[in-house]
Amino acid sequence: MSADTQKRAAAEFALKLVEAGRSIGLGTGSTANYFIEAAAAKVKREKLDTKFVPTSQATYALAQKLGLNLVTIEEAPFLDATIDGCDEFDGKFRLIKGGGGALHREKLVASSSKFMITICDASKQVETLGAFPLPIEVSKFGVNATAWKIERALVHLGYKDKKMRLRTTKEGTPFVTESGNPIIDLMLDKIDQPEQLDGILNNTPGVIETGLFIGICGIVIMGTDKGVVELTRA
Ligand code: 5RP
Repeated sequence: MSADTQKRAAAEFALKLVEAGRSIGLGTGSTANYFIEAAAAKVKREKLDTKFVPTSQATYALAQKLGLNLVTIEEAPFLDATIDGCDEFDGKFRLIKGGGGALHREKLVASSSKFMITICDASKQVETLGAFPLPIEVSKFGVNATAWKIERALVHLGYKDKKMRLRTTKEGTPFVTESGNPIIDLMLDKIDQPEQLDGILNNTPGVIETGLFIGICGIVIMGTDKGVVELTRA
């Protein structure tokens, strides 16, 4: 079964969370898009009054085109649930997110929700986080100054000879998020102590958001070759 089929199956499984009267955060990425499509069909079929908060322009555009009732995070600052994809998750439901560059808004919306549910294909489950480059959203002002501070922190934490790169677009121009910030991707291979790394990065001037989602996700819905698996954090 392809990763896309698994993503779609996970997204459709998560539809049970779409109910009347609820406010739901909509993540960003291909798996989130499958969820948006399925949610739009359910809302239309069952005439639900569910409200949705998008985490990016792309999500907004798709959800609006499909007729979902969209509100902003300012209008709905306390959400019932957020459904979003991930780049990696481990056994403690710690995630790496931000492959698509929407980490800041995704974290803001997810952490404003009673539950964050990540939907994914089986390739996203890992023993140890870090094979996927860890995105760090940083201030445009002083980006090189922030980069060397991050590098110094990594050396201090024992991540010697690890690479970092300023994210660029396919065209080779600097990538900026919807908040206008660059992203530095850290190629760490293995993150043995995600909480420690996250704490230090979050205390680094210039860092706006890390792609580590710790203590935010409570449920993983994962498509596998044998069907959809739902995992709940203890
Ligand atoms: C975007 C994200 C995505 O959720 C993550 O990259 C997974 O994407 P996909 O569902 O396309 O595999 O964090 O910033």
